[in-house]
Amino acid sequence: MKILAINGSPRAEEGFTNIVVKRFLKGAQNAGGETEVIYPAKMKIAPCVGCLKCWLETPGVCRHNDDMPEIFKRMKEADVYVFASPVYVDSMTSQMKKMFDRFMSISEPFFEFEGTRSYHPRVADRDLKAVTISTCGFPEREHFEAISLTFRRICENIRARLLGEFYFPASSLLASKPEKLEPQLSAVEKAGGEIVEKGIILEETISEANREYVDDYRAFCEEMNEFFHKVRRKRGLE
Ligand SMILES: Cc1cc2nc3c(=O)[nH]c(=O)nc-3n(C[C@H](O)[C@H](O)[C@H](O)COP(=O)(O)O)c2cc1C
Repeated sequence: MKILAINGSPRAEEGFTNIVVKRFLKGAQNAGGETEVIYPAKMKIAPCVGCLKCWLETPGVCRHNDDMPEIFKRMKEADVYVFASPVYVDSMTSQMKKMFDRFMSISEPFFEFEGTRSYHPRVADRDLKAVTISTCGFPEREHFEAISLTFRRICENIRARLLGEFYFPASSLLASKPEKLEPQLSAVEKAGGEIVEKGIILEETISEANREYVDDYRAFCEEMNEFFHKVRRKRGLE
């Protein structure tokens, strides 16, 4: 089984999101899966300009000459997609969104009414599976509401079965107190293994991975403020 992770963080390997992505892939690798991570921020991806050339002049071919064909090639070879992005202004990063916008170039323009809604025709000729991962700075889980909805809609649009969503708020704790988050990270790793071994992720694994770990939101805010004041004082800014 091939698992392709796409991590939209501009901090790429250095970011908090990658800590979670790496644990998922570690679980998948240990179970015999083949894994790869790509970072849209490190690739050349031009923003869609909505010219519709890919639909009406050169079907399937975008006017931009950049790294998107490479991303499509890797997606074609993968069985599971891990869509990962930090929350940026209640959404995904612009690097990630720019990539998703360009998916339009490989879809056909036609509308198909299926079940209760319309879609563009299916692109993949096989069953797709997906997992989503996000981290955010604030401690409450409500900050994932918008990105979760967007990820779920994207999976629906590309007809990928979303097998699990993994959300880590108060993301600085991933670096400052990794031991506190170890049960959740272990569950993410377990989920990576389950995907390869069972083709699904158990509900209990998803619940364990998303279990609350911030005991007191107000106290967390105070800790963050202490940290920021300390750095600013050190730099002579206060
Ligand atoms: C431009 C920008 C916007 C952000 N917007 C939010 C936000 O709306 N809500 C939130 O909780 N955190 C927000 N954050 C914090 C990031 O989501 C958080 O630090 C995340 O873990 C960074 O992931 P990374 O290290 O993988 O890049 C924002 C950070 C940046 C730089």
